[in-house]
Amino acid sequence: MIRLMTLAAAMLLPAIAAAQAAAPVGDPQKGAQKVQMCQGCHGIVGWRTAYPEVYKVPKIAGQHPAYIIAALKEYKSGSRSHPSMKAIAASLSDADMADIAAYYNQAPLQTAEK
Ligand code: HEC
Repeated sequence: MIRLMTLAAAMLLPAIAAAQAAAPVGDPQKGAQKVQMCQGCHGIVGWRTAYPEVYKVPKIAGQHPAYIIAALKEYKSGSRSHPSMKAIAASLSDADMADIAAYYNQAPLQTAEK
């Protein structure tokens, strides 16, 4: 049984390594300079926008980078649709997404009132 598990782990490891190599590694410092346009909606205390209509904006600070990148790619590709997020995601490169995801991953869960 232990042998089987070792074998399974040995088979999984290269797959995990390959998956990590495929995604560009985000730089939170660079990300911090790219999130100004996100903060207007995602940084509001209470997490809602007032314009163009009142709606709840999901909290993304503290989210796992892979989750943020996947969501942005879905908006960009159109498999998730939301007009503002689609327009924003369309303007981001893979490297931008990785940097932004890295930034939000280490950002505090509470927003500072700025
Ligand atoms: C105009 C307001 C607005 C701006 C600006 C904006 N967002 Fe969003 N964002 C939203 C709204 C509203 C949603 C929820 C949309 C939906 O229901 O799919 C959302 C959803 C998301 C999600 C998915 C969250 C989840 O839990 O499903 C991510 C990730 C995200 N935004 C990242 C960003 C990033 C990164 C930026 C800046 C590059 C940004 N957003 C800029 C309004 C905005």
